[in-house]
Amino acid sequence: MNNFVYDIPTKVYFGKNQIENNLGKELASFGKNVLLVYGGGSIKKTGLYDKVIKELKKENLKVTELSGIAPNPRVDSVREGGRICKEKSIDVILAVGGGSVIDAAKFMGAAAYYEGDAWDLSTRKADIKKCLPIVTVLTLSATGSEMDCGGVISNPETKDKLGRMERPMLPSVSFLDPENTFTVSKYQTACGAADILSHLFEVYFDMSKGFYMLDCFMEGLMKTVIKFTPIALKDPENYEARANLMWASSWAINGFINGGRNIEWSCHPIEHEVSAIYDITHGLGLAVITPRWMRYCLDDSTEDKFCQFGINVFDIDKSLPKKEIAEESIKRLESFLFETIGLDSDFKALNIDENTIKIMAKKACGGKHINGFKKLYAEDIEKILKNCL
Ligand code: NZQ
Ligand code: ZN
Repeated sequence: MNNFVYDIPTKVYFGKNQIENNLGKELASFGKNVLLVYGGGSIKKTGLYDKVIKELKKENLKVTELSGIAPNPRVDSVREGGRICKEKSIDVILAVGGGSVIDAAKFMGAAAYYEGDAWDLSTRKADIKKCLPIVTVLTLSATGSEMDCGGVISNPETKDKLGRMERPMLPSVSFLDPENTFTVSKYQTACGAADILSHLFEVYFDMSKGFYMLDCFMEGLMKTVIKFTPIALKDPENYEARANLMWASSWAINGFINGGRNIEWSCHPIEHEVSAIYDITHGLGLAVITPRWMRYCLDDSTEDKFCQFGINVFDIDKSLPKKEIAEESIKRLESFLFETIGLDSDFKALNIDENTIKIMAKKACGGKHINGFKKLYAEDIEKILKNCL
């Protein structure tokens, strides 16, 4: 274990109907003017919108709405949100939705304190020292945005999708009601599972030693996703399954599992380049890339970690030869992603050409390399991407 400071101050209300009599009060503690941010309308169909409005009325809050936040949220929405925050002297932003809505809300909160173009906040041209308070009502278990300080914004003009983590963007309060995820489609449920698993893999597959407790914790979360995703797919209103997936999504990325390690992620920067150009669902991109990345990383030096994964997560017979266990662990993951939860197993449908692969590979490693589980240069990423076709 390395030295670290544990400080995850997001207040979480977990469980059924927790917004009732709590949401309005929490928002009111920041002020009267609320910007309500949501996506393409799912919250209206599910009835959550009406429930939220009812709670806001109880505290006589002044609400301005900004809807239509797209999956892979666009910088235009952030610009618009930042403008409204300034114009209406917004005190607090309420994000009701999945990762896209919450991410966009975070950058709007930062844009409220910035006079230049909001895209500067994503490119790091501008510092993010302040952000309006963010309150979330989560509707999809996947990104962990409800309990982390990160956000990812796309710019269709430049074909960039850039992530950034800054402490001021950490949500102040998050409402996690598993029932709000009952209506998530099978496809988005499966993509969410792939995303949660990837957040764990990005940290778990690391060569440092001495993180036994955190390894066990991550293996527990992986087993949780593997156990409950098929149940949620078959029975979308299974509370136990939805609850376990929801809490796993938050803890996979809230920083707890790092144990002071400063780990460079591998599959996420690669996936972000693919979704920047092809606008695919983040979790699907990760599902396709991850097993290819694992195979690329598997060698004598990394074999032990794959064995640990295979034995502890998939119960592979530990008496088998190491190489066999390691390879079998990747096969089991593929079988989970592509057979059990039914995600597409390749990028064939995207018709990616050679030149675009080169561009994506170069951008994914920032023109240098990714210093992750295995060091990846542009040539390595190109090979991984070609294996995805
Ligand atoms: O737009 P609405 O109507 O809300 O519909 C959404 C959207 O179409 C729908 N949905 C959400 N909750 C629903 C629902 N449909 C029915 N019932 C519900 N309860 O699902 C679709 C996808 O939503 P989205 O928010 O895009 O999904 P997700 O939560 O997977 O977020 C993906 C975004 O988050 C970023 C990704 O790159 C991507 O842009 N990430 C954010 C991270 C973070 N903040 O830390 C880390 C992640 O690694 C990730 O990069
Ligand atoms: Zn992710």
